[in-house]
Amino acid sequence: MKTFLSREDLRKKRDKFIVPGVKHLYSDPPHLVRGKMQFLYDETGKEYLDMFAGIVTVSVGHCHPKVAAKTVEQVQTLQHTSTIFMTQPMVDLAEKLAEIAPGNLCKTFVTNSGTEANEAAIRLAKLASGRNEVIVLKHSYHGESHLASSLTSNHNWRPDLMPAAGIAFAENCYCFRCPFGQKPESCNLECAQDVERVIQTQTSGKPAVMIAEPIQGVGGAITPHPEYFKQVKKILEKYGVLFIADEVQTGVGRTGNHWFGITEYGVQPDFITMAKGLANGLPIGAFITTDEIASHGQKQQINTFGGNPISSTTALAVLETIEEEKLSQNAKVVGQYIVDGLKDLQKSFPILADIRGKGLMLGVEIAGPNKEPMAKEAAYIVEEAKNAGVILGKGGLYGCTIRIKPPMCITKENADTMLSTLKKTLEKTAKIPVA
Ligand SMILES: Cc1ncc(COP(=O)(O)O)c(C=O)c1O
Repeated sequence: MKTFLSREDLRKKRDKFIVPGVKHLYSDPPHLVRGKMQFLYDETGKEYLDMFAGIVTVSVGHCHPKVAAKTVEQVQTLQHTSTIFMTQPMVDLAEKLAEIAPGNLCKTFVTNSGTEANEAAIRLAKLASGRNEVIVLKHSYHGESHLASSLTSNHNWRPDLMPAAGIAFAENCYCFRCPFGQKPESCNLECAQDVERVIQTQTSGKPAVMIAEPIQGVGGAITPHPEYFKQVKKILEKYGVLFIADEVQTGVGRTGNHWFGITEYGVQPDFITMAKGLANGLPIGAFITTDEIASHGQKQQINTFGGNPISSTTALAVLETIEEEKLSQNAKVVGQYIVDGLKDLQKSFPILADIRGKGLMLGVEIAGPNKEPMAKEAAYIVEEAKNAGVILGKGGLYGCTIRIKPPMCITKENADTMLSTLKKTLEKTAKIPVA
């Protein structure tokens, strides 16, 4: 039987050899050694119900047997050639993406990560429009590179002392903390109108492209008003600005019933970028765009590992599995079940101040009666839930949003386990020691 380092020894070794910016979610992290569908196991054999799927990445379940078998078969057949040689898996994947993507999106570029997909999409949008500036939303996260972290509107993820230029930030549609002090029942979507103000006041009037997440993931499941993207798209069209939907988290069925989150908003983007759940944990990213936009990128493009047979075969198997096992429909049904359960809990625990999201892309903001962010309490809940065998995520600009984004194969029974664990954790939260 395989033996594993104790968590203490592994932690010491990690601290010695890994750069300090790579941080743990937990103050006492378990050493995870095995995964099976919606469950993870640590070095002691303890089981955890995984309600965070890595970071929203394990879409069909850890080591899903059918998907893993296809990956292994490909590993044993052909691993690498690069795109200057002709192989079929990348092309089959692109064909499938053209089938599932909305409207006339049909041309794909495959990368290794969401960051690279966003970089490549932005560059092509600039080439296609002959313009340069980019509009993004506040509280966004778009990746780790120089450009992608400059597109990110959260100081915790912006390490560059000199960010990339030509980026303008519009207010996001964050109804719980409306940047304009409005209420969703009575507002006139001033946040959408802010995009026009930003174009007029922070750009040349001719920006190339806007990039936005249909639901902001790292931002804390910030879920725009149903009409928000329609209004934004009208403004973008008025100024000839392209639109990239960053579906790195929301994509491939997670928001329930549709392949892509932006479809929930009835808007047709010019690009969709994706990564994470597309290959259930193997490195992949991609953008898909129209024939016309793609025709503006005629210079040779290469990404050594992008479109490799292993990740491409795996992604195709993932998409087939989502269809065969009706996982997007499951995301909708179980997601709603979780929301209903959280709303019940909220009656006894008002610190569950805002419950939001779609499908299995959910978040709960932990805040006080005057919406004071309760980051310490959120961290405590996540740590205690882990000790009780349930893995939850955490995020948001203020670090006070619990993120619930499990593999899409979870059941209502799993949801009940999570809800009862959360309840016990909330009961203890009232008593957490004040620093
Ligand atoms: C919305 C969004 N875009 C882009 C990225 C970057 O993806 P990657 O980490 O694969 O580079 C992330 C990662 O969390 C993300 O959530």
